[in-house]
Amino acid sequence: MNTAGPTPETPDTVSAPRLEVRELTVRFAGLTALDAVGFTVEPGSVHAVIGPNGAGKSTCFNVLSGVYRATSGSVRFGEAELTALAPHRIAALGVARTFQNIALSPHLSVRENLMLGRHRLTRAGFVAAGLRLPSARREARRHGDRVTEIAAFTGLAERLATPVGLLPYGVQKRVELARALCMEPRLLLLDEPVAGMNGGERRDMAELIIAVRESLGISILLVEHDMGMVMRLADTVTVLDFGRRIADGPPSEVQNDPEVIRAYLGAASETGEDTP
Ligand SMILES: Nc1ncnc2c1ncn2[C@@H]1O[C@H](COP(=O)(O)OP(=O)(O)OP(=O)(O)O)[C@@H](O)[C@H]1O
Ligand SMILES: [Mg+2]
Repeated sequence: MNTAGPTPETPDTVSAPRLEVRELTVRFAGLTALDAVGFTVEPGSVHAVIGPNGAGKSTCFNVLSGVYRATSGSVRFGEAELTALAPHRIAALGVARTFQNIALSPHLSVRENLMLGRHRLTRAGFVAAGLRLPSARREARRHGDRVTEIAAFTGLAERLATPVGLLPYGVQKRVELARALCMEPRLLLLDEPVAGMNGGERRDMAELIIAVRESLGISILLVEHDMGMVMRLADTVTVLDFGRRIADGPPSEVQNDPEVIRAYLGAASETGEDTP
């Protein structure tokens, strides 16, 4: 992994706006998946959303990225109200996400998948690109160079030509993160970035997330089950249980909160999972 890291492509992308989630409620026929949840992600910080299965973590991400509509409440990213916007408009504001289940094109190479991440930044239209105008060629080269740089940073330089479907799971998760970085985001939403990984892969991913934050200065909102990861990575944590916020604060405080312990112990005794 190249620990020097890429620099932000344009200086004006450095300072991420604050993300403010207020009274966010999402109902699905008869089920309240999120119940008046609120939290703030300060610019350049890492904020984790944790909670047992079904707590509403992915629902929260889906609202922030425009995939689900909020029933009520607001999500402000700087001046923009995200709850009113379609996914591509939210992406254009610099909000990029990964998914709990890998959402890459398995038959395309790593480079092709990363180039898809550049799409929102492409200025030359299809006509110019089709006619192979010099401006379009220059732009394609610039995007290609940036993809190479981000691949080096994420430890994927040797894999650029490999079809994503042939890569080990842990590496595919890294490709997803790299693709999100290719959008030059100001806010990165990571849904369980280390789920299903072994110990070594988890450590690599944690280091990469720290490097992203340090070299690009972007805000990161992270959904995570692994309490060790949360303690290592997050500045602040929001804990959800059955769609309600039951705790919020620094990880060291939240970890010792009796209601949090109860929620996790309850979930563990029902599902047989380990407690965090
Ligand atoms: N599209 C949907 N339609 C109906 N119900 C949904 C939908 N999406 C989520 N839910 C329900 O909302 C609740 C919260 O689900 P969500 O996926 O947000 O939980 P989660 O915290 O991400 O859980 P996990 O840890 O298992 O990923 C669950 O009861 C789930 O079944
Ligand atoms: Mg989820």
